[in-house]
Amino acid sequence: MTTIRLLAMPGSARRESLNRRLLKILVRGAEQAGATVTVYEPRDNEMPLYDGDLEAAEGIPAAAARLQRLFSEHHGLLLATPEYNGFFPPLVKNTFDWLSRPIPDGSGKPGTIHVRGKPAGMVAASPGALGGMRSLQHCRQYLSNLGFLVVPDQVGVPKADSAFDAEGELVDARVRASVEGVGASVARLAAKLATGG
Ligand SMILES: Cc1cc2nc3c(=O)[nH]c(=O)nc-3n(C[C@H](O)[C@H](O)[C@H](O)COP(=O)(O)O)c2cc1C
Repeated sequence: MTTIRLLAMPGSARRESLNRRLLKILVRGAEQAGATVTVYEPRDNEMPLYDGDLEAAEGIPAAAARLQRLFSEHHGLLLATPEYNGFFPPLVKNTFDWLSRPIPDGSGKPGTIHVRGKPAGMVAASPGALGGMRSLQHCRQYLSNLGFLVVPDQVGVPKADSAFDAEGELVDARVRASVEGVGASVARLAAKLATGG
């Protein structure tokens, strides 16, 4: 049986990030559906702001090459992203823009070869009333442009500053189940694709 491996990333580097809390629940849904999950922390894998001159002089940053390699070893993506002014944050865009640059083996192939046709699932958390849903619309388009198959279900958690209990659990059981459901959808689609089903 193929082990389904998913890469999970919070779209915020903030220590007390609401989205990092939400990611844990998304991850749990994927694990309950049989996937093994690796968390990729942007905090620990800092990348410079994309700069073509820097790339020409130094190649892609080690953190970006590492992310490309990680995606070559994983079957899909779980993302919990904040919303900044109706969009997903520059941290997410910068990370995946670097990922899309040529892999460092001299072949000239873009990093997107490691994500093309792989499933992705997104959720968002915001203290606001819309739960970051606007960022998810843009993020869906962006991840699709990179070649991910973004699963149809997505969840935005509004009033997220009061949505978690002291243990980091989502208080509302229905919202919790929906977030876990996105993770499970990604795991199931990844399994289907991996087995050619
Ligand atoms: C520059 C900036 C713009 C923001 N714009 C929005 C927004 O458009 N909609 C929203 O719901 N929250 C917005 N917020 C509030 C974030 O949702 C909030 O800071 C959230 O906690 C960030 O996610 P994190 O906790 O995972 O770091 C914004 C925050 C910042 C710093």
